[in-house]
Amino acid sequence: MEDDPGVEAELGQVGRALYGSFPQRSRNPVKALDARAMELASQDAELRAALFRFVDVTPACRSLDDLARHLSGYLSEVDEKPPSLEVAMRMAGTKPGRAALGVAAAGGVRHMAHRFIVGESPRKALPVLRELWEDGAASSVDLLGEATVTEAEADRYAARCAEALDTIAEAAPRWPERPQLEADSLGPLPRANLSVKVSALTPHIRPDAPALGREDASRRMRPLLRKARDLGAHLHIDMESLDALETTMELIFELLDEDEFREGPSAGLVLQAYLRESPNQLDSILAWARETPRTPPLVVRLVKGAYWDHEIVEARQHGWEAPVFEVKAECDRNYEELTRRLLDARPAVRVAVASHNLRSISHAIAYNRYSGAEDRDVELQVLRGLGDELGHALAAQGFRVRVYCPVGDLVAGMAYLVRRLLENTSNESFLHEQAMGVPLEELLAAP
Ligand code: 2OP
Repeated sequence: MEDDPGVEAELGQVGRALYGSFPQRSRNPVKALDARAMELASQDAELRAALFRFVDVTPACRSLDDLARHLSGYLSEVDEKPPSLEVAMRMAGTKPGRAALGVAAAGGVRHMAHRFIVGESPRKALPVLRELWEDGAASSVDLLGEATVTEAEADRYAARCAEALDTIAEAAPRWPERPQLEADSLGPLPRANLSVKVSALTPHIRPDAPALGREDASRRMRPLLRKARDLGAHLHIDMESLDALETTMELIFELLDEDEFREGPSAGLVLQAYLRESPNQLDSILAWARETPRTPPLVVRLVKGAYWDHEIVEARQHGWEAPVFEVKAECDRNYEELTRRLLDARPAVRVAVASHNLRSISHAIAYNRYSGAEDRDVELQVLRGLGDELGHALAAQGFRVRVYCPVGDLVAGMAYLVRRLLENTSNESFLHEQAMGVPLEELLAAP
């Protein structure tokens, strides 16, 4: 079935129709990123490593000033700086220069952040969520903040999640009807949808002691699950770097198996196709889902994975084999294989396919049709600020789209922003290829 010509032909048609409805001007989503930031994060390995180290310290930074200081510290270690960076570093050598640089850098980051972050608080994000909904796209709100280092921070994150659920669930019933977003063949779909990160719910994630983090995060997750159930909202648990994978998976399986959560809330997890282990992880997820039937069923969001640079650096430091595919085509092939397995596993799970790659998305739509399901039986997800054109095109053609919408302030969002920069400045990124004018036939070719 893998190379079925029927699926490929359908895929070509779907891909061409979607591409045809991208606005001409913006067939170049990479250009939408701030040009200076793009230049900074170009294909320079040292620069990427500096950015990566910067991400590691962001949870401990308390202000933009603090962040700027760390960033310039790391960047000073880069040997061959692009010209704009040389100028910046020279400016950093004098007090007035530093002040000017600080203002410029903060302005640049704010400008870039604006594309990705929908608001500083759930309340401030509401107009954007409503506008998306009116335009035919649902949302999942992600409260920025991750890798907490203290209990107090984890408590604050849990409180922000609870507040977000209340705020969105209170507003969502006033949104107009959008039948294609509100139900699939298995039943109704919640309007309010929140994504949470386990590393934000506990400071105790340790790969060598998964039980510690799991218990600590469970104690903050239970009230959120109860609230989501009582409000009829969906709670999605994000997947992060590999160190947190075992803690996260076990936490989800254990909590959702508790009696009080068998009949809700609607909940979901994430499968990262860049992990070589992902086919085995899917085996475990499907075995669990079949043994533990839920109403509504578990949602599996299939992604490529956002921590590629982190996993590579971590593996090299320890002399391990990289746990992620290093050849992009291998990852893309695995993604398609997992897409088919997930779509075949319904109704044990609901499937959300998250990607900005036109081929990957078109493949999911084509295979879903090929397997006889309705279009509304697969959800397609994009990230705010990067997948906007694709999201609009999908919504305009009546597909079920959900936009992942980060909410929070810049300091909390820095790691998220740098992940977006790292993945989208990689010269292998689909969006990069699209921006470079690679012909549509090549973009849609089998990986
Ligand atoms: C991230 O935070 C989108 O969840 C993904 O990078």
